[in-house]
Amino acid sequence: MTTYPFNVEQLTRLKGKTLLITGAGSGIGRETARAAYKSGANVALADWNEKDTQALLSELKSAQAGVTADRIIFRKTNVANFEDVLEIFQLTWKTFGTIDAVISNAGVSSGEDLFDDEIDPESGKLMAPKLRSIDINLTAHLLRREIITSSAAGILDTPPVYLYCTAKTGLIGLMRGLRTSLIKRNISINVVAPWLTVTAMVPQGRLALWEGLPLNQPATAAHALLLPVLQPEINGKCFFIAGDEIVEFEDKLHETQPLWMGSKQLSDSVDEGQRRMIGVIQESRAIGL
Ligand SMILES: NC(=O)c1ccc[n+]([C@@H]2O[C@H](COP(=O)([O-])OP(=O)(O)OC[C@H]3O[C@@H](n4cnc5c(N)ncnc54)[C@H](O)[C@@H]3O)[C@@H](O)[C@H]2O)c1
Repeated sequence: MTTYPFNVEQLTRLKGKTLLITGAGSGIGRETARAAYKSGANVALADWNEKDTQALLSELKSAQAGVTADRIIFRKTNVANFEDVLEIFQLTWKTFGTIDAVISNAGVSSGEDLFDDEIDPESGKLMAPKLRSIDINLTAHLLRREIITSSAAGILDTPPVYLYCTAKTGLIGLMRGLRTSLIKRNISINVVAPWLTVTAMVPQGRLALWEGLPLNQPATAAHALLLPVLQPEINGKCFFIAGDEIVEFEDKLHETQPLWMGSKQLSDSVDEGQRRMIGVIQESRAIGL
């Protein structure tokens, strides 16, 4: 087990950095924004919930009133809408002159049923399935992301939210697909996969069910989201959050590859195949093939 201890004192290193945080109006995103802003970072808040995000904006501005220049902005944003995303990026860039990190955290977990056949009352035809969960929890994160909130649902079975599960697994795939190439442009990519975390997303009944099991406060997930900003050498990791501990999975997954592949020889061959494939693809990209 590889845990990443988090020392809150290191948050001072965020001073002067610019962070764009999506889903900042509540839960994990809100704690991330609070920690970053209180540590001296410039913060751009993106959320479609205007009321809660405005309340956070006022809270943070009044806590720092008269002390510092305005270091926080908010734009109502639907992360699944490209125009909205473009606008918050442009606004952040225009206001602060740079974006050091994008924390792509917005997500929903509700109302999905792929097998609930709905018939269009007018045409009598079967309607297309509703893929809102995929649009918000996966597609929206493809727009441009560096630190992404996945979920334990990206690793574990989570019925009945199978679209959520699909989307969150996809985010781990996105990180794996990008971690060897983005870093060449000096951009790291990591995912944070919280297990049950006490936020508005979790119904009260679920908390009761969790009795005796490790639970997270949103601040721990927030710290894990900020870790790659504080330590830019961190790249390609998946931080599972359980019982307020940050546990990294990717390194151990690779370390134990001979075991779960069932043969050291196969594992070595797969590693060699990866080295060749990734190397060749990157070389051909570099020469424009
Ligand atoms: N709470 C948990 O147990 C848990 C576990 C694993 C992963 N997560 C993930 O953590 C992230 C944060 O969730 P949370 O637990 O803080 O929940 P939350 O509901 O408290 O916060 C989610 C925020 O995202 C915003 N949002 C949702 N869809 C949006 C959209 N299309 N555009 C803009 N903003 C949008 C909401 O308005 C809200 O402010 C999500 O990606 C969630 O899937 C949560």
